[in-house]
Amino acid sequence: MMTVELGTTQVIIELLYLIASVLFILSLKWMSSPTTARHGIWAGEAGMVLAIGGTLLNRGMDYRLIATALVLGTIIGVPLGRVQMTAVPQRTALSHAFGALCVTLVGSAEFYLRAPNISRFMMSVLSLEVILGGLTVTGSLMAAGKLQEILPQRPLTYKGQNLVNFLLLAGALGIAVFLVLHPEARLLFPFMILIALAFGVLLIIPIGGADMPTVISLLNGYAGLSAAAMGFVLNNKLLIIAGALDGSSGLILSIIMSKAMNRSFTNVLFGAFGQVQAAAAAGEEARPVRSATPEEAAAILSAANRVIVVPGYGMAVAQAQHKVRELYDSLSKRGVDVRFAIHPVAGRMPGHMNVLLAEADIPYDRLIEMEEINGDFPQTDVALVIGANDVTNPAARSDASSPIYGMPILDVDKAHTVMVIKRSMNPGFAGIDNPLYYLDNTLMLFGDAKAFVGSIVRELSGGHG
Ligand code: TAP
Repeated sequence: MMTVELGTTQVIIELLYLIASVLFILSLKWMSSPTTARHGIWAGEAGMVLAIGGTLLNRGMDYRLIATALVLGTIIGVPLGRVQMTAVPQRTALSHAFGALCVTLVGSAEFYLRAPNISRFMMSVLSLEVILGGLTVTGSLMAAGKLQEILPQRPLTYKGQNLVNFLLLAGALGIAVFLVLHPEARLLFPFMILIALAFGVLLIIPIGGADMPTVISLLNGYAGLSAAAMGFVLNNKLLIIAGALDGSSGLILSIIMSKAMNRSFTNVLFGAFGQVQAAAAAGEEARPVRSATPEEAAAILSAANRVIVVPGYGMAVAQAQHKVRELYDSLSKRGVDVRFAIHPVAGRMPGHMNVLLAEADIPYDRLIEMEEINGDFPQTDVALVIGANDVTNPAARSDASSPIYGMPILDVDKAHTVMVIKRSMNPGFAGIDNPLYYLDNTLMLFGDAKAFVGSIVRELSGGHG
């Protein structure tokens, strides 16, 4: 009777895990399109509830301890979730650090519970789990610190840096191999973790702030892979599936981001990108630009047939998306064709602009990806750049000495008229000057994005039409 009962519980757990796995896969699929993204979030959350529910059905659970941990986690987690959307990358890095810490601690506990009676396969995956977990903990904390500007964003390089990093990693892997062969050498285990933790710090030191979001995505990949390794250690298929999904999507995303910035992976990891930018910014001198008022901007926009709006980080900071929607409505009513050009790394995280514009209910079919819309700029009357800078910098196309040379950009300079809303002549994220602002067909609209767009909308509604 007892064995039948146990078997039934086990079947229920496996079933819940199976449904959770399917929901995780659907979640990722749905999140790849703005129209289905909300379903994706729900599917992911439902999958996680089922996964936790299934796990709680396992025998030998200390429910009091779990409840305490849940309450504590909620108390810490809820305020952590309430950050500005622009701070999401560093917030995500913190989540990776916590997740990886959990993986490393579980791996350590499993080692001391089992060693020396641990198979070679199990010791191999366990080592992989704690090495990847350890380097992700400190690497993610460093990345979060750099993005939050608690730590200097500047890359720190020294002679022989790559060799030191390589030797450290080789040291951790060497201990892992030794432990696979001699699991009784329990004293060596903490050294493997300590080296992984140190490696995480040293890995991030030479990387500049500009590459940090890509690195965070890469660390996401590492965290996922370490969780998958933990799945093997704990014999938990759901963890293997979820970890593999997390790991592969993190790696794919960092490849997409690297491509969008024309950066090779090795370049991101060892390039010391930020140093070049600082030097480039210092070399620029002031040049005259032409500026315009909201009234003039409104007149130019209402006389246009085709307008492409290019949103960027500044629109996000100013929270101007709702005013942008009003501008879209107002111009559309006048028969102006208004579309939005989405650069893959506009803003500070993947999909940043899509999320903001969707929040303001701008129709999805008006949001056009870079490759698709770039050919249309020469036939466009006005390119209205709202708080975007680097993603419109023509130096990326033509100036081989530019630190962002080769990064694909939106060809706004090819439009008949370019209008750029920003507060000053300050550079964007890459810290470099933008030759776009000095072109004959460019008008600078100096001001906060929300306030300036609001003034244009007022002018348009006060005028004819
Ligand atoms: P940025 O190049 O960062 O430029 C944003 C501009 O917005 C600034 O020049 C700033 O000029 C302006 N701004 C700031 N606050 C504003 C406000 N309240 N009102 C109006 N303007 C304001 O932005 P971007 O063109 O979106 O490019 C994104 C950058 O982030 C790229 O370099 C990209 O490589 C990097 N990056 C992005 C990602 C992802 S996944 N999105 C990942 C890694 C790196 P003022 O100070 O003069 O106003």
